[in-house]
Amino acid sequence: MDQVKFTAMKDGDREDYAFLTEHEVAFTKGTADRLMTALETLDEGLSGYKVTRLGHSLQSATRAWRDGADTDWLVSTLLHDIGDIFAPFNHDEYAASILKPFVRGQCTWVVEKHGDFQMIYYGEHVGANPHKRDAYAGHRYFDDCATFCERWDQASFDPAYDTLTLDHFRPLVREVFARAPYDPAVIRPGAREPLVDASVAATRA
Ligand SMILES: [Fe+2]
Ligand SMILES: [Fe+2]
Repeated sequence: MDQVKFTAMKDGDREDYAFLTEHEVAFTKGTADRLMTALETLDEGLSGYKVTRLGHSLQSATRAWRDGADTDWLVSTLLHDIGDIFAPFNHDEYAASILKPFVRGQCTWVVEKHGDFQMIYYGEHVGANPHKRDAYAGHRYFDDCATFCERWDQASFDPAYDTLTLDHFRPLVREVFARAPYDPAVIRPGAREPLVDASVAATRA
């Protein structure tokens, strides 16, 4: 068997779907590498800034790395703007959807809301509400998203910054997307891990 017998899904049988499941499992294993290839295409998008979108993504993740952030934060930060490719009007939600099955709920929330939180830095210059983030006042992860934006996102447009390469983060991306999806031990609803860990940061260059 090298393809299914059916032409309409409702006509498929157990053999067809067992065959497809096998293929999907193999395809799923390539998710991390497909995402990193997509990140590389960000190198061409959105000109006008002093760094490319890939440069910004890597710089954000590098700052997170130097802050001692854990794997979930690093991978989430690296991918936080990947939605720019296909979803320029809700790039934050798009990235969060990709991350949601594989990282802590805290990180998914922060990535999903970062667009609203970033408004604090430039909303007034584009006729948007700079205080959009106030809609989430009191939320468990409000301060985390504010810190993410302040330390890693808004700061990472500097061409002079010593940014690490994609290869530095590649093993971490592979590790995260090889996890069992929606594993409660990974998602840990309500859990908070610090963005900045000085003792870990001290071990990283
Ligand atoms: Fe963004
Ligand atoms: Fe960003």
